[in-house]
Amino acid sequence: MFEPLSAIPGLGFQERQDLVRAFVRSNKQNLLSVVDFPEEQYSRNIVFKNQGIEVMLTGWKPLRECWPHDHGGSHGLVYLIEGTALNTIYDINNGKLKKVTAKEFQSENFISMPEVYIHSMKNNSQNKRMVEMHLYWPSFSSMKIYDREKSIMYEVKGTCGAWEPREEEIIRSEHF
Ligand SMILES: [Fe+2]
Repeated sequence: MFEPLSAIPGLGFQERQDLVRAFVRSNKQNLLSVVDFPEEQYSRNIVFKNQGIEVMLTGWKPLRECWPHDHGGSHGLVYLIEGTALNTIYDINNGKLKKVTAKEFQSENFISMPEVYIHSMKNNSQNKRMVEMHLYWPSFSSMKIYDREKSIMYEVKGTCGAWEPREEEIIRSEHF
């Protein structure tokens, strides 16, 4: 079912968005049926992965927010299938993580993420769930996540979400 999405890395900006939009439109019920909405954080359902691309579906209850993170140097594209997302972009300046911009997105829109990119996402609705499709190319094996309260950067395995990591998921950590 997901095989058509393996063409994404070779496409231009517009074709890529057209393909994702058409794919979601024709498979929407199937896609929604695998998404769950945990109390804590958000769900990560990796539905397709080869060396070239990784496709993940995420489910968020109202007002859930992830930690700032990068995508291990991969390109990323998020398609907001359902809900309202707040995307916040950060920069590291003199060892400090600073918010640069925050923008709200409505369903059926895309958030495009270049290789060098630190961001956090939030379900910005008080009462509605949020569902997203995330595409990363190439697929990646590690990423950096930022604990803003403790000012600790964790490099974690690609299987970890952008939240408090478990000990076995941490590759290294440092203060920022
Ligand atoms: Fe992300």
